[in-house]
This record gives sequence, structure tokens and C-alpha cells, in this order.
Amino acid sequence: MRWNLHSTAASQFTTWYNDCMPSYFVETPACRYPVSVERGGLANVRQYIPERAGKVFLISTEDVWQLHGEALAREIGHPHEILFFPGGEPRKRLAEVETLAEQMVARGGDRSSVIVAFGGGILTDVAGFLAAIFMRGIPVIQIPTTLLAQVDAAVGGKTGVNLACGKNLLGSFHQPLAVIIDPAVLDTLPEREYRAGLFEIIKHGVIADADLFWLMSREPKRVMSHAPDVVDRMICDSVRIKAELVSGDEKEQDRRRILNFGHTFGHALEAETGYSQFLHGEAVAWGMKAATLLGAMERLLSSEDKGEILRCVNSYGPLPPVAGVDPARIAARLKSDKKTVQGKIHFVLPERIGAVKITADVHEQFVAAAIEEALAC
Ligand code: GLY
Repeated sequence: MRWNLHSTAASQFTTWYNDCMPSYFVETPACRYPVSVERGGLANVRQYIPERAGKVFLISTEDVWQLHGEALAREIGHPHEILFFPGGEPRKRLAEVETLAEQMVARGGDRSSVIVAFGGGILTDVAGFLAAIFMRGIPVIQIPTTLLAQVDAAVGGKTGVNLACGKNLLGSFHQPLAVIIDPAVLDTLPEREYRAGLFEIIKHGVIADADLFWLMSREPKRVMSHAPDVVDRMICDSVRIKAELVSGDEKEQDRRRILNFGHTFGHALEAETGYSQFLHGEAVAWGMKAATLLGAMERLLSSEDKGEILRCVNSYGPLPPVAGVDPARIAARLKSDKKTVQGKIHFVLPERIGAVKITADVHEQFVAAAIEEALAC
């Protein structure tokens, strides 16, 4: 089977600026904003900063800044300050948001300020949350620099920080003014981070786009060698899927929930391992395996499709070791996930490649068995 690598399906949320690099739009009741995907697109940041904006606060991590900061700062064309977030899932806490807010006030931040979030998914979540609550809310422009943040975290307005007892339990929906995705910055991304982003793309394939899944499944060499046509296609398809889902259900009351495929189990694993062993994308990969096994046990998914999903996820491994993780404790942690409503855990389970179902109607013994089996495979 061959794919036309430039044939990302257009939709009402797509505008094509040239032959292969479209812009997508997220449309919510309150706003409409572009998600541009363009090699070299960092250079266009100035066009997204409102003319009347006050000080611009560029928030980044030191490693990202060293690689690409100068290129970005050159293009801002506005008085700006640079603030650093230390990075890492254990630092994704309210205390860090407070520290950044104090620094903003000390450096002249006010209600006319704009935040430019420049980094991976943890950074875009934290800086987005800061924007959501600083002086009751200021605009943010998201410039994600990891694959995971480009295809998921920075698109859709979810922002937040962790509590010790669970992931992203403090947060807010705060849609950005724009999301600028420059696939060229991925050339400097460490391989482990790149792989972690690939799992979120596999997720998009399983939940909504069988062609994207088969691309990931059958072209691992080209995916892993960063072939530009494949990278651009993976990002564009993911952004298109996400823009459509968020536009139809901004606050995750309904269909947007399918984006959580693999996350209920994955968040439990992240919390159980102290947010220090797994990158978010790796935990989602493990969670997708658990949800796939559960889907098959519940007879929603054929064993053939189960095998294909497990094989595809495993082909972008290995995942960090899970030795010593207690399955019973993972099962107990599922109950504190955000998607658990009145004690009922809602699972996103695959029905076939390209379609999933949300259900709370599962057998408890199958949940336990799926966790055990996923920890072993
Ligand atoms: N990461 C899932 C969502 O944005 O809804």
C-alpha cells in the first residue's frame, strides 16, 4: 500500500498556504485561532503578537533556548523579557507557576502582557496555565518544540500542573492566540523525546485515522530517520484531527474525550512511578497497550487489530522497565483520574483501527488482567 504523503485530508478547519504546508484552525464558541505548520515558521512569530501588546514574556527552558532562542528573540519585534522554567515533570507544580508570576511582576508584567511559550509539552502546559491566571488571564502564543507538544499538548487550550496525587489535576482551558509549529526544530530533539511524540501520533491513528496508523505501522524506518515528508504528514494529520475534535467539543464534554485513549492507564503509571521514570508519551504508549488489551477482553476489538496495535506501539519502543510496578496500585490510581466521574472510570477502548468507544461498562477483573498483561508485554 502506498500513501500520498501530501494528501492530508482537508476539512473546514484547514487552509492551504502552499502545496504541502497547511494552517489549521481551532474554532471554539469564544475564539478562532490558527495552528500553522511550516518549516522555518518560527520566523513568523511577530505576525501573531497583537500590535497593542505590552511586554512580551518568552518562557522557555534553558536547553531549548540555547538551541533556538536567539532565532526566536530576533523575530519578536517587541519589547520582551526571557524567563526560564527548570523543566521536567516533577517541576510541573503550582510553586513554579508562582515563581514565574513573581518574576513577571518584577519585570513589568501587567494585563497588557503576552506570554510566548517556547518548549515541550510540560513547558507549554505550565506557561499556558500561567497565562490563564496571571492578572485573571492574558494571551499566550504556543510555540511547541517537541514532537509531542506539536501534535498534542500545545493544541487545544489545555493547561495545568500536577498534584502529588495525580496528573494535571489543577488547570484551565485557555486557548492560545496561535500555535506555531516548525517541524525543523525537531532535528535537534533527542531520540527518546522524538519516540515519545510518535506514540501520540499512533494514538491519533487508532482513534480517528486508519491511514495515519498504517503509515506509522509500515514505515518505521522513514519515521525514525525524520524523513521530512513523513514528519510533516504525521504532524499535519495529527493537528487536523485535534483541531476538529477540539472545535467540536472544547471543554471535553463529549467527543474530545477520545483523545484520552491510553491516558487513563498512562497517567496512573506516571503517578505510580513518581513522574520520574516515564516520559508522558511513553506512559501513554503503555496505557494504549493496556486499553487495547482491555478492548479485546471486552470483545470490542478483533484479535487481529489488537495484534497490529501492540506491534506498532512496540516497534517504537522500548519503553522504560516496569519491574516492581504493582498492578493493584495502578488499578487503585485509576480512580483518581480526571476522567473518573462519581467513582466510574471512563475508558476509551478501540473497536477497530481508526475508531474507539468511550465506556464505563467494563469488567473489573478484565481491567486488572489488562494491567497485568500490559506490564508484561
Ligand atoms: N491531550 C488530550 C486533549 O488535549 O484533549
